[in-house]
Amino acid sequence: MPRRDVYIETFGCQMNELDSELVTGQLRALGYRLTPDPEAAGIILYNTCSVREHAEQKVWSRLGELARRKVDQPGLVVGVLGCMAERDGKDLIRRMPVVDILCGPGELDKLPGLLDNAVRTRISLEDGLDAELAAERSAGQVALQGSSSRRSSTLAAAADSLEMLDLSRAISPIDADPEPGTPRASAYVRITRGCNKFCTYCVVPFTRGAEVHRPPDHIVEECKRLADSGVIEITLLGQTVNHYRFEHGAAVVVDGVTQPQKGRSYAGGHRRDPFAGTGVTTFADLLRRIHDEVPAIRRLRFVTSYPRDFGDDVLEVIRDHPRICRYLHVPAQSGSDRILKLMNRGYEVAEYLEFLDRARSFLDQPEINRPLTVSGDIIVGFPTETDDDYAATVALVERARYKNCFIFKYSPRPGTIAFDKLADDVPESVKRRRNNDLLAIQGRISDGLSQAQVGKTLDVLVEGLSRREQKRAAKPGGACGAGGAGGPGTTSLTLNGKGLSDHGGSACAIDAEETEAELPSGPPGTVQLSARTDGDLIVFFDAPAVAAALLIGRVVPVRIDSASGLALHGSPADPAYTAAAV
Ligand code: 5AD
Ligand code: SF4
Repeated sequence: MPRRDVYIETFGCQMNELDSELVTGQLRALGYRLTPDPEAAGIILYNTCSVREHAEQKVWSRLGELARRKVDQPGLVVGVLGCMAERDGKDLIRRMPVVDILCGPGELDKLPGLLDNAVRTRISLEDGLDAELAAERSAGQVALQGSSSRRSSTLAAAADSLEMLDLSRAISPIDADPEPGTPRASAYVRITRGCNKFCTYCVVPFTRGAEVHRPPDHIVEECKRLADSGVIEITLLGQTVNHYRFEHGAAVVVDGVTQPQKGRSYAGGHRRDPFAGTGVTTFADLLRRIHDEVPAIRRLRFVTSYPRDFGDDVLEVIRDHPRICRYLHVPAQSGSDRILKLMNRGYEVAEYLEFLDRARSFLDQPEINRPLTVSGDIIVGFPTETDDDYAATVALVERARYKNCFIFKYSPRPGTIAFDKLADDVPESVKRRRNNDLLAIQGRISDGLSQAQVGKTLDVLVEGLSRREQKRAAKPGGACGAGGAGGPGTTSLTLNGKGLSDHGGSACAIDAEETEAELPSGPPGTVQLSARTDGDLIVFFDAPAVAAALLIGRVVPVRIDSASGLALHGSPADPAYTAAAV
């Protein structure tokens, strides 16, 4: 068994996808090989999510399978990374002794050391050398922040080494790509770690620790290096991304550790960051800097936003800078003030709706083809949620007119405030009914918004072959077989950020890719490409197979001919550009 071949599987959010990418790059540089085939790997890593129980269950069942496999392959090394490792700690190893390594999301820079130790231990065991010592060492390689995660005195050190992990990335994003040698056009850049909001249902403040903002120079530099290597779309990541604020002169900025929610905010009528221009880089400043200093980035996005932290300064920057996308993911979570209070969200429905109106008044300009699209997250079945509370949520969703909304059934998470204080008293059948009902309501809204695009010409960033086309290509004699889509490398071009979900929203209203899979093939000699608008709408269109490779990674105009669910279907608005691409 190849001992240094690593298979890594990522669960959950975009932050986890980025973490996996950084870990992968780090391990490659140390001589490990990444394999897409778990059976061929000597090391299996799961980068896990604890936000909902369902995500954890998937990992438990994978670990169960590995326990059986390890009977035949005792040299297999198994690592659990991310939020489950941090939350369950050593209990996880006690429950699943198949696990050799535990590494929390705040300790990923330590993974190479842990892995090296585990691999050596395995080798000793397999070789029968010093079995006693090896057995002792195999008791588990563990790096967790534990209770130190919210102690500000330890944060500077933790953040510094973690900062190195982010900085070590992207020397060439090609190296970090799952398939070395393939270019890519889209990348994530973290701007903030952790969260200080303490929504009562949420594990993130406990697993990812206190909010820490990265220095703006590091962020801009990372964006430049990504742009130099061909990336044209960057998505900035943070749990509350628009709460970014870096105070110069401090190594790291930790705000509101002891009194979460009481930090500086726009609430109470502030429409501007009150600390702008006082030695502070605000979120608005950061967006402006990246836009102006890295012009090769054609699209700048950010997720996930916190409703209360949006000032007019940010909206103005988005409005005035053409390469910042008019797309906001701003979860409301509930439409009932009583439930929002129990969730500790820190705003009321009226404030949320006021924010949406304000954002639309700044940013929604369909007449110049620059609409604002908004997506949301809703939790149904939060403890004590009545039919009236749920009706208020329906009213909010109807008012908000989200492009799409991730709808989750409340999942009680041990260690959270809601878990300790509120009984999970909404029956599963009621949660399921509300979930399905809201999905149908949002489905109709999404449909309406999609239909409204028909007849328009939209600029889209071409991401790659559609999934349908990839499936066809994989079949013998498929359309993009030899000579099909413009040569090697094309079919495997990957963009991250392609999922609809922000925190791994498995319950999204409509799966555009499903819709797409049912479509008939295009005319002979063409391939179906998948692209995205500035507002994050997915567009499929057929282009000459020979032009595909050159269109991928470019922004081109597409005329929208039809819409089904969240998927738009179009055709090249100007055949000249496909010709030019050839
Ligand atoms: N149960 C259900 N949904 C949750 N989310 C976070 N914690 C829970 C939970 N315990 C949802 C929220 C959040 C998204 C990432 O996941 O909607 O915005
Ligand atoms: Fe969790 Fe988001 Fe609330 Fe932070 S703001 S506690 S990440 S739901």
